[in-house]
Amino acid sequence: MCGIVGYIGSKNAYPILLKGLKRLEYRGYDSAGIALSRDKQPIVHKKKGKVSELENYCTGFDVSGNIGIAHTRWATHGEPNDINAHPHVSMNGTFTIIHNGIIENYEKLRNDLKEKGYTFYSETDTEVLANLIEYMYSEGKHITAELAVRMALSRVVGAYGLAVMCSEEPDKLIAARKSSPLAVGIGEGEYFLASDATPMVEYTKNVVYLDDRNLAIISKNSFTLKSVDDGEELTPEIQKLELSVGELEKNGYDHFMLKEIFEQPKTISDSFKGRINPETREVVLGGLNEVMPRILDAKRIVIIACGTSWHAALIGEYLIEEYAQVPVEVEYASEYRYRKPIIQEDDVVLAISQSGETADTIAAISLAKKKGALVLGICNVVGSSIARETHAGIYTHAGVEIGVASTKAFTAQVTVLTLVALRLARRHKTISDERYYSIIEDLYNIPEKIKSILVGHPRIKEIAERYKDNINALYLGRGYLFPVALEGALKLKEISYIHAEGYAAGEMKHGPIALIDSNLPVVVVAAKDRYYEKIVSNIQEVKARKGNIIAVITEGDNALRKMVDDIFEIPYSDPVVTPLLAIIPLQLFAYYISVLRGCDVDQPRNLAKSVTVE
Ligand code: AGP
Repeated sequence: MCGIVGYIGSKNAYPILLKGLKRLEYRGYDSAGIALSRDKQPIVHKKKGKVSELENYCTGFDVSGNIGIAHTRWATHGEPNDINAHPHVSMNGTFTIIHNGIIENYEKLRNDLKEKGYTFYSETDTEVLANLIEYMYSEGKHITAELAVRMALSRVVGAYGLAVMCSEEPDKLIAARKSSPLAVGIGEGEYFLASDATPMVEYTKNVVYLDDRNLAIISKNSFTLKSVDDGEELTPEIQKLELSVGELEKNGYDHFMLKEIFEQPKTISDSFKGRINPETREVVLGGLNEVMPRILDAKRIVIIACGTSWHAALIGEYLIEEYAQVPVEVEYASEYRYRKPIIQEDDVVLAISQSGETADTIAAISLAKKKGALVLGICNVVGSSIARETHAGIYTHAGVEIGVASTKAFTAQVTVLTLVALRLARRHKTISDERYYSIIEDLYNIPEKIKSILVGHPRIKEIAERYKDNINALYLGRGYLFPVALEGALKLKEISYIHAEGYAAGEMKHGPIALIDSNLPVVVVAAKDRYYEKIVSNIQEVKARKGNIIAVITEGDNALRKMVDDIFEIPYSDPVVTPLLAIIPLQLFAYYISVLRGCDVDQPRNLAKSVTVE
């Protein structure tokens, strides 16, 4: 969602801020803006649309200055337009701010400020905050900008990642965080500020991630970390960035999504290789060691997640229940956080999130923590809020995922969940040696098998050509392949805007069968597993109603090949790890349909990579 970049130092801030905004485009946004501090005067330019439109607009203006802040906005309060775009300047021009998150009590604050004579030009909660800070500053006697920010934030209910410039103190940036990520990059005689590390990776490897209710006061040569609440000085913990610039480039691929699909043989192997002892073949999950006794005592595991991560969670449920024989419940974080769930102290709650910043998942985590559950995380982004707010966890090591449609993060999550299930099964002694070693063996073979599927991508493109003009699609699967059907449908709908429904194939008779006619493509995930005969029956039912079937089948399955209209073949694998193969053609199918329909593959409309507001 919204993105923040800031710079203070001796260089020209504009190109650094602009490049930073481009790095943040992947998060999803609908307008962008920039403010430069010059001669005690903020120079603000903002535009609806892409960062390139802002860049074009700025041509011809003087964009010099060594201090500045910039923002990509994903509209929440007020439509996307030039006026509502950030930065926002307070009524008398003293404060210029950019803000991620939502000020929940903005209406009341706005009315209070109106009574005090403030007027507003935008519909945003951010302008309210700018004016509130200015009001505190002007009312207080000789107070600093820092104190005015702290006083204003003490009256705010909601979430903020905030960057502030004050015209009276033009040589500093002030930043604060609550439930919306913010990091300070430390250079030599310069500092960077950003909502994630991507805008600063080419300038520094030293980063401080702000914690909730942290305030950073940054000048060219110093950086002080304080508590928003009492102003107490805190010791910053400097972390080394492991990200490289190369990871943020397309490296010859047309889109990040395609690059990320093709990276999966490597990312899957990065997720499991270091975690399986090469000699004993035992799974080692260092991040869970300390809490393992509590995990083993758990009466149940509740997995919370959203979107694609929720689909991975479903596969996790099937795996853990089948092999570790521990009851598992999978919950949408957005429901769980509000529905007053029963959470007991011997529950283990496992949060799954690529970004580690999903607002609903974070809220569900705090609820579970308050009730005394052990809360674990499976995250991709190192240092993210979920990684830091959970008691223990495992990183997926998929590398930066930039395409809004999650691909490699999903397969990495499924891989990690497979390891968790196997580890618990070993500890609970609920799996035979023979079964255990055979699954591990098949996991090792997955990367090569994915390579063989990827080689067939031109054929998947040909099939996509035939279906690109459809307006609906139904995806069906059973067992471990049911969540794959859900995920395949989500991929198609989010990047091609074709309405697609994923269903458990056994549920088809209870409703969706009414949709089937010669116009409806039905994608059936029908690899060889113990449900095979059942799914073949479902295919027959669709055929009998003249539905068009595209099936994901196991190589060599000539019977199905003859029965359906189009096929995506995948090599045979143990059914437990087959989701890792079956999803690949479905990702490519969605990708090519999106390209052929002329959609914005990496930044589909209305979507954001990190959903940091509910
Ligand atoms: C995935 O393709 C989607 N863009 C979306 O459903 C995503 O998985 C969801 O928003 C959860 O994100 P998270 O994994 O970062 O928490």
